[in-house]
Amino acid sequence: CVEAGEGGSQEACHLPRNERFAALGQKGITLWFTGLSGSGKSTIARALEEELVLSHGKHVQQLDGDNVRMGLNRDLGFSPADRAESVRRVGEMACLFNAGGVITLVTLVSPYRADRDAARKRHEDQGLKFLEVFMNVPLETVQERDPKGLYAKVAAGEIKGFTGVDAPYEAPLKPDIDLPNQQLTVDECVEILLERLEAEGALT
Ligand code: PPS
Repeated sequence: CVEAGEGGSQEACHLPRNERFAALGQKGITLWFTGLSGSGKSTIARALEEELVLSHGKHVQQLDGDNVRMGLNRDLGFSPADRAESVRRVGEMACLFNAGGVITLVTLVSPYRADRDAARKRHEDQGLKFLEVFMNVPLETVQERDPKGLYAKVAAGEIKGFTGVDAPYEAPLKPDIDLPNQQLTVDECVEILLERLEAEGALT
């Protein structure tokens, strides 16, 4: 539903967002992790989720590219148009969870700036908080890490159109949070994210 004064074509809220969040004791927010395959999006989001659920008692939902591609996005591949559609669908889902008061952690490569900006706009048009988190790790580092052996397959010519190698990755120009995580431990990354969530009033 749409809060009074906001755009969109959905029906008006029967339960105003502030009342909902106050009653639930938590506020919705979306953290949108973007970065190359192997840059640590899922690892850090999972560690953050554990901390938020177990230490802070918050409702959290992670929307992960690999997982979503098994269900909602099982009809999509890795062409620019399919990636845009994947980002659009996950962006819409994130809006729904966020509006329901859930801390929503999106972990998608989401390589195109325009697609990420459109997801941000969908949130902002509905008065929903959205923070872009850039996993700022160079290609050489993720190629060395190669946790799934995918970069080796790309080098062997077994995968074509791989992000960062022979398909583009458009880094955020002004990310809300920049995480050069090859210089940081997972715990340090989680700490940075928790501090930001605290500053956004999402942990109260
Ligand atoms: S995207 O670009 O946002 O649509 O990608 P996403 O849905 O996050 O899926 C990325 C995971 O799919 C695997 N994979 C590829 N990634 C990038 N390019 C190509 N061509 C590709 N083919 C398969 C890869 O395991 C990505 O997983 P992560 O978790 O990012 O490492």
